[in-house]
Amino acid sequence: MERLSSPARLMIVSDLDHTMVDHHDPENLSLLRFNSLWEHAYRHDSLLVFSTGRSPTLYKELRKEKPLLTPDITIMSVGTEITYGNSMVPDNGWVDTLNNKWDLGVVKEETGNFSELTLQAETEQRPHKVSFYVDKSKAHEVTKELSQRLEKRGLDVKIIYSGGMDLDILPQGAGKGQALAYLLKKLKSEGKLPVNTLACGDSGNDAELFSVPDVYGVMVSNAQEELLKWHAENAKDNPKVIHAKERCAGGIIQAVGEFKLGPSLSPRDVSDFLECKADENVNPGHEVVKFFLFYERWRRGEVENSEAYIASLKASCHPGGVFVHPSGAEKSLVDTIDELRKYHGDKQGKKFRVWVDQVLATESAHGTWIVKLDKWEQSGDERRGCTTTVKFTAKEGEGLVWERVEQTWSEESKLKKDDSSWII
Ligand code: GLC
Ligand code: MG
Repeated sequence: MERLSSPARLMIVSDLDHTMVDHHDPENLSLLRFNSLWEHAYRHDSLLVFSTGRSPTLYKELRKEKPLLTPDITIMSVGTEITYGNSMVPDNGWVDTLNNKWDLGVVKEETGNFSELTLQAETEQRPHKVSFYVDKSKAHEVTKELSQRLEKRGLDVKIIYSGGMDLDILPQGAGKGQALAYLLKKLKSEGKLPVNTLACGDSGNDAELFSVPDVYGVMVSNAQEELLKWHAENAKDNPKVIHAKERCAGGIIQAVGEFKLGPSLSPRDVSDFLECKADENVNPGHEVVKFFLFYERWRRGEVENSEAYIASLKASCHPGGVFVHPSGAEKSLVDTIDELRKYHGDKQGKKFRVWVDQVLATESAHGTWIVKLDKWEQSGDERRGCTTTVKFTAKEGEGLVWERVEQTWSEESKLKKDDSSWII
């Protein structure tokens, strides 16, 4: 990845459904905890990789439903499609290797003979992935029979059973594990092999991730039977793989701590960070993550409605500081903070959440920092995002001073009319 000029301190490679995303938590709390930890402590020097069974279509749908961060690398369709960066540039070199002993037509023909197999949605059928549903009780037998038939037809495939219902047929060289191994090799050849890699998963198609050499692994507490069985049979003596006590993203955070891969305290687990102002290291990225978390708590009415907070925020703003609202209106930063008073608790009970994505700070001149990020607000079912640029100056003995905040609506948020509840 060009973004990093040296090896990533940590590369997290995580499955999405029931691993990064907890579909049983409508509040998305563990995901939001992970998000703030990542943006606070890892974004600037680490790599986030999502590795999902979903096709690009269903992956994009999930992004709209859940507060997912933007990964550096996206591996989709069970390790058959790898893309890079925000614009998701495909790795065509990877696709080329998958054509070995693979023939989509033959797979479709042979699977047609199995009445136990129900074809999944059209979006989930990909050039190197054919997917069905099959009953748990039939899965083993069908897999055996089908591999023999395909082998006879000269193909070399991999059949994976996940989530107690999904059956994927892929080229032998594909899969989440192979895709990760390919990625590690590629990063190594660029002199950027990550210092540590942590693989995270919950179901059958994640098993391969845990056999990639030198990689730490976490099976989240809610892992599926088929993965736990695979682990018991194949990897139970590997101390680098743990079965977490916590569900989903909570389990990922737990593993980061247990394997000592770096900080594992999410800012969301700190109740009063404005109090601990004495941040020895000047870090503008931290300021931004903490501010927007405070802003969420303020509007949810979860922090005390205290003048001390307002005073402390105002003290960190430049008296002539400017805030450019995404609508284009300009206000003084200090006035904007003053206005916050009337919004205390206005989002109580309204499912209001704020999260930041891709927080990156650069020192533009000595003591002057520019932080760029995407800031998101969810209120009930409505979501809005904007690109935010914050300029800070570091003053000797005073820490960081907010000088200018400028926001522009993200593409999809431009179309929405009402922006009255967007404060900062
Ligand atoms: C995702 C995909 C599906 C696949 C399953 C297991 O749910 O949408 O096609 O079968 O993951 O890999
Ligand atoms: Mg999963």
